Amino acid sequence: MRRVLPKLTTALSALCCALSLSACDSPRASSSATATTAAHRPWLPRACPDSGPTFEPATKDGSANAQLDLCRIDSASLERGAEPPDLAEARARAAARLATLSQDEKLRLVQGSSGAFVGNIPAVGGMPAISLQDGPAGVARFSDVTAFPAPIALAATWDRALVQSFGAAMGEEERGKGVMIQLAPMMNLARVPAAGRNFESFGEDPYLAGELAAREVLGIQSQKVVATAKHFVGNEQETNRTSSDSRIDERTLHELYYEPFAASVEAGVGAVMCSYNRINGAYACENPGVLGDLKAELGFSGFVMSDWGATHSTVEAANAGLDLEMPLGQNFSGLAQAISAKSVAEARLDDMVLRLLTSLERVGVLGDPPTGNPSSVVTSAAHAELARQAASESITLLKNDAAILPLDPAKSVLVVGEAGSTQPSVAGGGSAFVDAPYVVSPLAALQSRSGLTVAYDDGTSDSLLTAAQAADVALVFVHVPSGEGLDRASLSSGADALIAKVAAANPNTIVILNTPGAVLMPWLAQVRAVLVAWYPGQENGNAVASVLYGDANPSGKLPLSFPASEADLPQPSGAHTVTYAEGLAIGYRALDSAGKAPLFSFGFGLSYTSFAYSALALSAGSEPGSLSATFDLTNTGTRAGSEIAQLYLGFPPSAAEPPQVLRGFERVTLQPGETRSVEIELSPRAFSCWSAGRHARYVPSGTYRITIGGSAQGAALQAELELTGSEP
Ligand code: BGC
Repeated sequence: MRRVLPKLTTALSALCCALSLSACDSPRASSSATATTAAHRPWLPRACPDSGPTFEPATKDGSANAQLDLCRIDSASLERGAEPPDLAEARARAAARLATLSQDEKLRLVQGSSGAFVGNIPAVGGMPAISLQDGPAGVARFSDVTAFPAPIALAATWDRALVQSFGAAMGEEERGKGVMIQLAPMMNLARVPAAGRNFESFGEDPYLAGELAAREVLGIQSQKVVATAKHFVGNEQETNRTSSDSRIDERTLHELYYEPFAASVEAGVGAVMCSYNRINGAYACENPGVLGDLKAELGFSGFVMSDWGATHSTVEAANAGLDLEMPLGQNFSGLAQAISAKSVAEARLDDMVLRLLTSLERVGVLGDPPTGNPSSVVTSAAHAELARQAASESITLLKNDAAILPLDPAKSVLVVGEAGSTQPSVAGGGSAFVDAPYVVSPLAALQSRSGLTVAYDDGTSDSLLTAAQAADVALVFVHVPSGEGLDRASLSSGADALIAKVAAANPNTIVILNTPGAVLMPWLAQVRAVLVAWYPGQENGNAVASVLYGDANPSGKLPLSFPASEADLPQPSGAHTVTYAEGLAIGYRALDSAGKAPLFSFGFGLSYTSFAYSALALSAGSEPGSLSATFDLTNTGTRAGSEIAQLYLGFPPSAAEPPQVLRGFERVTLQPGETRSVEIELSPRAFSCWSAGRHARYVPSGTYRITIGGSAQGAALQAELELTGSEP
């Protein structure tokens, strides 16, 4: 997914560099670059060497260190990939439809109306009515659908293929209900750990979020349903979400908050939803800066729809780049008048409609509209199984003292807490809420797995301590609620006293957290094990029982940091101006920059088996100027399991980046004793930063550190890379 598709000229120039073919060397790459060339290629350095390989491993001493020469890399090739291959054809079909529409019909296509779905566009010009529906965890609002785990759980799997299957399954269900545009994936960045919608997101890292969002887009759109990347942009808390102004500097926007959207655009996402908030003064849906960046810089060819009620003007919004007002046309109903007054060009209206129809044409839904309706039964045994697999893969083991897990089935178990029985955790609240057809409770699943009667206490009974003392093991289930419209009041799990009480009575206390994100754990030292099971969807109990009893190995890794203290990361701000003063330093980037140890770091998760990393080697990658890092990964334990190997890049100090940033990962499943060679490739873009001065990417020169391991704090292998960059 992370392929940068350079333009031909760039590719040739870089290829020459890569292969060191002096015959290919172009004069513009020398110090005598012409003025014209310099103007077009602002990053051409004053003096690139005339020859010399792009990549040179320093293998003589057996180290993995290497040199990479990106001196001649063009800033254009540091941008993300080209237009979707099928775009031109889809646009031609859309243009043909557009040509048949009257102005009145066009106007009806750019504003919502009432109807059976959360968003509705009436039928015009012989086309079917267009239906829009949430959301990120499955089909929202309707019944007989599959309640998948929350996206934050999918993010904890770091499993690209699984996320694509999840997207395809959701897309199939949406289409089965008659939906043409799905309002997912969500890719805000959990800047604030207590933000109410973090459960809908893919966590705090723009690379991870981008990789997974792109896969979800591919999955959804494979089902003839348009995917929607949301919420663009800087929608990082619920407090004052419809009025607050996110003040974000240009570099931070480009390197962090735009990045998952850029990955989605590269994957061909058909729609982007602009957010409720303002960005640097102007509301997102009438913000020429960010919408201009989306369409010009990120190359987005689809349509921008407003979040529900996030449009505040007619002329400003239309001219800034809003293409569709949702859910009704309070503002765009004034477009006809604005066009006749010439404050909005007729061509802008055509562009809005062309973008909408092009995205619908590209996924193929206009030619083949869905036949289902909101009453159709769309859940299936296969989707329930996918929901179970995803929930199981997402479970993240944070502590497992003396290998208390997996549980010995002969041990007597007490389940504590309603989340373990009568109120099992399923989903977060708000537009992403999914009506589960059933929910498997942990208690029921544990009983069926162990064949024993598992004791239960809701945590409030007088007999709790006696029951806890009597059991071999106490499992405390905690649901931490969260939803749209409200940030969490704190990072407390809300169950500190209960956990401490049970742990005081039973030394084998295990805590299972159904949480949307980070929580504090003042009781951590008193308990034997901690599992994060996120919001697991309808298969909750089956997933957690499979991990607790070791039928499945826990292989989730945290997609966001668990800080040691609330003060270590930003709180929701009550101010109307929210300044992102930390810039690039969010999540683990912030903790690393401040030298603060997390409670559990980004990327962390234990396993029932163990893994060893060895034999790091760097070599030229498959594309011009790219780098390939290969290493061996061995399952050194006695159980099969998956490891998520992560590659972090440390930039030279001149780049002023956080100490390390995630730039690659692979999820590898290994049998006991098995070794596999793993490859992670870094494109030239991976080494790039955004220059606010030049409004473009460049590659800083200097020494880069490549760190590979099982978490942001788990360096197992390291190498250095001397890089000749592209700054002037
Ligand atoms: C949310 C969006 C959602 C829309 C439609 C809004 O309140 O912010 O994420 O897609 O409602 O339900």
